[in-house]
Amino acid sequence: EKPTYTKILKSYALKDQRVKVAGWVHRLRVSKKLAFLVLRDGSGYIQAVLSGDCALAAVNLTLESSLYLYGTVKALPEGKSAPGGVELSVDYFEVVGLAPSGAEAFSNKIQENADPSLLLDQRHLALRGETLSAVMKVRASFLKNIRRFYEEESLTEVTPPNMVQTQVEGGSTLFKLDYYGEEAYLTQSSQLYLETFNAALGDVYCIAESFRAEKSHTRRHLSEYTHVEAELAFIEFNDLLNHIEKLLTNVIKYVIEDPIAGPLVEQLNPGFKAPEGPFIRMEYKDAITWLQEHGIRNEEDKEFQFGDDIAEAAERKMVDTIGKPILLIRFPVAIKSFYMKKCADDPRVTESVDVLMPTVGEITGGSMRIDDTEELLAGFKREGIDPAAYYWFIEQRTYGTCPHGGYGLGTERILAWLCNRFTVRECVPYPRFSGRATP
Ligand code: 4AD
Ligand code: MG
Repeated sequence: EKPTYTKILKSYALKDQRVKVAGWVHRLRVSKKLAFLVLRDGSGYIQAVLSGDCALAAVNLTLESSLYLYGTVKALPEGKSAPGGVELSVDYFEVVGLAPSGAEAFSNKIQENADPSLLLDQRHLALRGETLSAVMKVRASFLKNIRRFYEEESLTEVTPPNMVQTQVEGGSTLFKLDYYGEEAYLTQSSQLYLETFNAALGDVYCIAESFRAEKSHTRRHLSEYTHVEAELAFIEFNDLLNHIEKLLTNVIKYVIEDPIAGPLVEQLNPGFKAPEGPFIRMEYKDAITWLQEHGIRNEEDKEFQFGDDIAEAAERKMVDTIGKPILLIRFPVAIKSFYMKKCADDPRVTESVDVLMPTVGEITGGSMRIDDTEELLAGFKREGIDPAAYYWFIEQRTYGTCPHGGYGLGTERILAWLCNRFTVRECVPYPRFSGRATP
């Protein structure tokens, strides 16, 4: 009788049936009479027992070899545990690709102590490890559920260009490229393009790579990251804050409830609970007072003053001490980008928000946008940007301006928080930072 070919995850339900599974040898223990192996196919892991001739033939097997296994799925006896609660009693196997020995180096145990640069050189193999592959599955669930949330909120997905001739977040982190002899850049943010879609499609979002030439190495900066951005028309600042809060609480809840990703989050970050709204809303000026009162000092080792940028270390100390998500709002004009709208009741500050999460700090940045042409031109002037290349962006104000706002969310940062990873490098398949673009 021909066995049913099945993915490992589905095989768990096929007890007492003869099946065919395919995958890679994840663990291996061979003795004279019996061989035990764990096969991995990306959908799951299955423990397999080989005996008799099969065990004899297994002596040459190596970790990471690819195989077909044929056998009967058996429920595990009481007191034993294995993935899916089953064991495959193998009666026949076929080797597809025999791997050289030495793949042990990429097993999880060794990864924990290994030289990080070696593991980065071998990222294509390290991705097969249990921890990295678990984070990548949570990442997939996060992106899937972000789309689900936007669908529920009636936002339309768009795909803005990645090769551009405008900056969004400051000239110092631009990657320049030679575009048929003209200067162009890899996009830092799709925000300006998203704004142009509002009058065409209404509320929009994109999930796109953003590029930043960040010279220093930190726990939370990559040169290429997956940026989730949205732009909403005819809203007020409070609507923006409520929307961001709803996104974070709902999407995290969806990921935790996901039958695949939920248990992986629990494994990576035991005891994690999805945060519930409303989040603390803290004004920048009150954060400055908080930092002063807690003796936390600025980058120049001086007492914090209104107008200072709250850099990574101080920001993280504050949110770690408070221990809950914070919507930090109303940043001063001078430390924010040219496009941010000023507060009507205090023109020194903007209708801006950073979402801070414990252990990571800023995971999201957003604002209401200047919707008046003259004011926008003054913003360009303040930052020393020639507005010529931005004519299409400025014209949104000419042809039917509207109050609008949006935000950008760093996928790897939210994952670092959700999966309790020390750096964002563990939350992206192939990390890019200065000195690293291979593999
Ligand atoms: O705060 P940022 O620079 O804001 C913008 O780009 C806005 N134009 C977004 C918008 O309003 N549409 O970046 C937004 C988020 C940050 O909060 C952070 O989570 C992430 O993007 N981010 C990075 N993640 C990894 N590596 C980097 N170098 C990052 N820079 C920003
Ligand atoms: Mg920011």
